[in-house]
Formats: sequence, structure tokens, C-alpha cells
Amino acid sequence: MAARLPGMALAVSLLLLLNREVRSFKSGSFTIDYERNCFSKDGYCFRYISGSIHYFRVPHIYWKDRLQKMYMAGLNAIQVYIPWNYHEITPGEYDFSKSKDVEYFLSLAQEMGLFVILRPGPYICAEWELGGLPAWLLQSSTISLRSSDPDYLAAVDKWFAVLLPKMKPLMYQNGGPIISFQVENEYGSYFTCDYNYLRHLREVMRSFLGEDVLLFTTDGNRVQELNCGTLQGIYATIDFGTTDDVNSSFRIQRQFEPEGPLVNSEFYVGWLDYWGVEHSIIPTGNATKMLEEMLQLGANVNMYMFEGGTNFGFWNGADYNAKYRPITTSYDYNAPLSEAGDPTEKFYALRDVIRKFRDVPVGPVPPPTVKFAYGSVPVTKYGALLDFLNVLAPGGAVTSTYPLTFEQMQQYYGFLLYRTLLPQTIEKPLPLMSSLNGVHDRGYVLVNRVYKGLLERDNILALNITGSKGDTLDIVVENMGRINFGSCLLDFKGLVKNLSLASTELTIWSMFSLAIDDAVGKGWPHSIQQEGEDSTVQAHGPTFYYGTFESPRAQDTYIRLQNWVKGQVWINGFNVGRYWTDRGPQETLYVPKNILNENSPNNVTVLELERAPSEPSVVFLDYAILNPKG
Ligand SMILES: *[C@@H]1O[C@H](CO)[C@@H](O)[C@H](O)[C@H]1NC(C)=O
Ligand SMILES: *[C@@H]1O[C@H](CO)[C@@H](O)[C@H](O)[C@H]1NC(C)=O
Ligand SMILES: *[C@@H]1O[C@H](CO)[C@@H](O)[C@H](O)[C@H]1NC(C)=O
Ligand SMILES: *[C@@H]1O[C@H](CO)[C@@H](O)[C@H](O)[C@H]1NC(C)=O
Ligand SMILES: *[C@@H]1O[C@H](CO)[C@@H](O)[C@H](O)[C@H]1NC(C)=O
Repeated sequence: MAARLPGMALAVSLLLLLNREVRSFKSGSFTIDYERNCFSKDGYCFRYISGSIHYFRVPHIYWKDRLQKMYMAGLNAIQVYIPWNYHEITPGEYDFSKSKDVEYFLSLAQEMGLFVILRPGPYICAEWELGGLPAWLLQSSTISLRSSDPDYLAAVDKWFAVLLPKMKPLMYQNGGPIISFQVENEYGSYFTCDYNYLRHLREVMRSFLGEDVLLFTTDGNRVQELNCGTLQGIYATIDFGTTDDVNSSFRIQRQFEPEGPLVNSEFYVGWLDYWGVEHSIIPTGNATKMLEEMLQLGANVNMYMFEGGTNFGFWNGADYNAKYRPITTSYDYNAPLSEAGDPTEKFYALRDVIRKFRDVPVGPVPPPTVKFAYGSVPVTKYGALLDFLNVLAPGGAVTSTYPLTFEQMQQYYGFLLYRTLLPQTIEKPLPLMSSLNGVHDRGYVLVNRVYKGLLERDNILALNITGSKGDTLDIVVENMGRINFGSCLLDFKGLVKNLSLASTELTIWSMFSLAIDDAVGKGWPHSIQQEGEDSTVQAHGPTFYYGTFESPRAQDTYIRLQNWVKGQVWINGFNVGRYWTDRGPQETLYVPKNILNENSPNNVTVLELERAPSEPSVVFLDYAILNPKG
């Protein structure tokens, strides 16, 4: 017996090896069947019913929960973008840890029984800062993004050489969940129309992922978009929503792919919100009707978004449509799963449609997460932003005759302070002007520390001020999120044009990079044992407030800043996002439980940019207000 064991073990492991080889040969194929007009998985027709989810918009403790709910909806796949700028904040420094651990996220999807349609960019749009491109690319002011500009391609190649080898083992061909990779994103909507660029991406992706990788493109449902967005050897798919026609849309796809599966890569079951614009709603009935129509045709469908999530921190993007339109902090998207991951009536209605076409898993859908109303929390004025330059701008100032942009200062997000001295005494108000609309995106103006008002891109280009020669003129400029779509991607931030006082061009500027996120992330201002200022004096202009509250049991909650105007909120150093109560429609910010403390008080830091209420407080609710009119 004993003597035979090694031989047996060898035989068994050989068998296992053989088995695995055989299985991986058989089970490792994912291709297009041009005869049966379908995807082919292991030789069988395969159709996906998928939903989009962005790991970078969902707290990582909830990844599994959201994926479970998507699985329970009857989906067999998810579609995922990878934002380059989130993983390579500083050139050459890559972060794939914790909330950025995309490999872990994808492995959870596989565990759940969900295939993955991966969209690694390099450009993703996604209503994300600069469409996922790192803003440090804009250090070269002449770079041509999304083209075969050698500087751009060199950066892309470096990034893909890091990212794609991580994705290769996760391919279905290699035993992982990824069935296909999207090349670029709606490239035909961009003006460059550079086939060499697409060709380059195709070759780079094939060289890292292998020749048997299934590559596809996605474009709008118009011929002109597909003309510039598609390339031989990359399967052409389209996207459209409930206001379009299914048959005529797929007819357009058929012009480019006469055979093969019909695919709607982004079926809009919801829509995004902009500050100052009504909350978007895609009625459930419209979504279910069109989903059924598409599934009836045998089409593959990805619902965008199935779970939207949150633009935490400074990560929101903006669109440019006649004017600059920044996207709200919430990316709830009116999706079947809410911002906080709760199943909505749309979730159940879509599941009922899916049920007609494939078996939906039996058993209960995981319940909504518990929300807790921690109630009202008074906050204390800590002081004006300008009083803390020693903490917030430890590097001091850079001086220059003309203003430098965020990109030139190599500070990419948040706030930058511009300072100069008034060149003359102004007794009768004179306009401080950005006649070329060069304040990107909002400038909060102070003279000798007294708040005078603001300049706003596309909206407010002049502000009357008075003062004496030599007075300090400060402008705190906020980057409200770089444009993520359309032809204006070179969206430099800061004072991107000269400012003038009436007809006098202002010169000799000092620029202070404000590292507010760093300071607050390290516990400031709570960590300084110092009394706040007298709160009864209402402050105007950029001012910090702080407060604390207890959460003996940490639960998800929503913070509301009623009667505040506009600003940024941090909880325990985590940048929860922008609020803009004055513009709406979003009135509460999602606060996930993982940022709360159970055994020590929670710190809230508020940077109000314009005007806090006279008795400043914030309130924590157990429900969201995204549509105050609804
Ligand atoms: C929803 O369907 C109704 C009725 O067909 C239509 O009038 C409306 O435009 C649709 N709305 C959207 C957003 O699809
Ligand atoms: C779309 O095409 C299918 C199959 O050709 C047909 O059954 C259906 O009636 C068409 N729908 C519309 C709205 O034209
Ligand atoms: C500035 O003041 C002048 C004169 O008082 C006035 O005509 C003008 O409308 C003001 N401009 C702004 C932007 O407030
Ligand atoms: C400001 O004006 C100067 C001289 O008129 C010009 O050289 C410079 O490029 C301008 N700066 C910006 C940011 O427009
Ligand atoms: C919260 O504030 C306390 C001081 O009250 C400080 O010691 C601690 O570092 C802060 N914690 C966080 C996570 O910001």
C-alpha cells in the first residue's frame, strides 16, 4: 500500500492536471458566433443581462452586498469601468489597496456567479473627473488627449503595462470572470477620430491579454459616431436609452456588424444629476418595456447604472453643454439599487422582466441597509480659511507675474488660493473682471479678508469691489470637477485667464496650493486643542466649522446642511463630498457606516464657502433627499 501511494498520487495529480487542461481548454473560450448571432461561451450561445456598478463609487465594505443584490436581480454579468486617475494619482505611483483593490472586487463578482464586462479605458467618461484621465496629463498644455499624440500614448502604455497584466489572470480564458474588454469609450463622440489611436490600443491590449481576448467598442446609436468609434477586429456595440427606438438603433449596429450578437452596452435605466437642474427620473415603466423589447430580440443588455453610488471627495466630473455643468455628489442615477444600495421598485420590476427570459435565483433579496438618524449636531466656527495658511499651505506661495493654473502648480483637485495687491485705491466700486471667462470654476473673492462675493464660470464674470491701494486681494478658486465628455476635455483649472480691475490687468500673483484634504485627513482642526471663534458672529466667505457626535452603533446615515450655501464636508477625515444646498437638487450626502467610529466621537469638518447659517448645525437623517420636489 505504502509503496503504491506515491504512484497513485502521481496518477491522481496527472489526472487533475489533465482534467484542468481539458477543462480550461473547453471552458476557457469566449468568442463571437457570427452564424448564430450570439456570444459563444465554451461553444454555446451565451447572452448577458448585465448591470453597471463602479467599485470606486461604493464603499468597499459594501461591494459584496451590492453584487449579491445584482445577482438576485437575475443578472449574469456586471459591467465595470476602471478610472486611471483613481489608481495613479501621482505619475508612477500606483494604488490598488483597500477601496482601490479592483482585483478583489472582480474576484467577488466571480464568487457571486457574475461575469465581468471590463471597460479599462484609458478614457471612461463615467461623469468622473476628466473622464478618468489623470489631470497630471494636462501639465503639458498642448497634449492631445484620446489621440495618437506620443506624450499621451506613452502615458497610456505605462499605465496599461501595470493594469493589464493584473487583469490577464482574471480573464475567462484563464479561469476568471472577465469575458470581454471595451476599447476606449464612445470614442466616436470625440472629435479626434484617430484610427491610429484605436489601432494602438487594440495592439497594446492584445499584446498584454493575448490574441484570444474579446475586444469591443461602444458608441451612440448614430452612424457618424460609429464611423469614428469602431475599428476592424473590435466588435462594435451601441448604447441608447428609453427615448430611442430599439429596432432602428439595432439597425445602426447591424450596419457595422451585419452578423454577431446585438448589444446595448449602456441601456439607461436611470440618468445623472447636475447641480442646479431638476433630479432625473427614468420612469420604471419605460425601462421595463424597453428591456423586454430588447430581450425579446435576443439582444445582450447592460443596464447603466444598476447601482450608481457616490462621487466622494472631489471625484465628480462635469459636462459642457452650452455651459459648464458640474455633476452632483450623489451618483444615485435613479438606478434600480439606490445610492445606498437599497432595492427600489425599479429593481423588482426589472427582475420581473428578466424572469421571463432566464431563471432568477430563488431566495430573499438582501434587505436595505439599516439607516440611523443621529439627529442635529451643532458645529462651531473654527475660523476663516485664510487664517490657516500655515497648516493648509505648508509649502508657502509660488509667485508669478501672471496667474498659474492648478495644473502648472501641480495641484489637481480642490482649492487653490490666488493673492495679489490692489494696484490702486478704489473709492467708487470697480469691477473685478474675468472678461475671458477664465475663472475655473468658482472664485471666492476677499479684500483684506473681507468677503466681497464670487466669480463663477459661465455665470458671473464681474464683481464690483472697493479698497485701498496695497490691500490684499484674495481669490480662493474651486475646481468643481473637470469636464468628462465632449470636445472640451482640456479643462484647466484655476485662473486660466488674466483677471483685471476695470481695464487694469492684475499682475504679480502669489499662488498657495491648499492641501485641505491632507490636513483634515490627519485630524485637523479637531486635533488642535483650541477654542473655536465666537460663533455668534456670522462669517462670510470660506470658513471652517467643526463639531462632534457619537454613534454607539455605526450605521449608514445622510448628512443635511439646511440653510448652508455651498461647501465641502469631511467626517473623521474622510471627504464625504460637496454640498450645494443653494442650488440643489441634492440636499443630503450619503455617509456610509464604515467611516463612523463606534468607540470614540465622530469629527465633522465643514468648509462653507459663502455663508453659514447664524446658528450653524448639521443634521443626520435616516433617509436621502435627492429630489426635494418629488
Ligand atoms: C416614458 O414613456 C412615456 C410614454 O410612452 C413617454 O411619453 C416619455 O417620454 C418616456 N420618458 C422617458 C424618459 O423615456
Ligand atoms: C422590432 O422588430 C421586431 C422583430 O423584427 C418586431 O417583432 C417588432 O414589432 C418591432 N418593433 C417595433 C416597435 O417596430
Ligand atoms: C458695478 O457698479 C456699477 C456702478 O455702480 C454698476 O453699473 C454695475 O452694474 C455694477 N456691476 C456689477 C457686476 O455689479
Ligand atoms: C496674461 O497676459 C499676459 C500679457 O498680456 C500674457 O502673456 C499671458 O499669457 C496672460 N495669461 C493668461 C493665463 O492668459
Ligand atoms: C477627531 O478629533 C480628535 C480631537 O477631538 C482628534 O484627536 C482625532 O484625531 C480626530 N479623529 C479623526 C479621525 O479625525
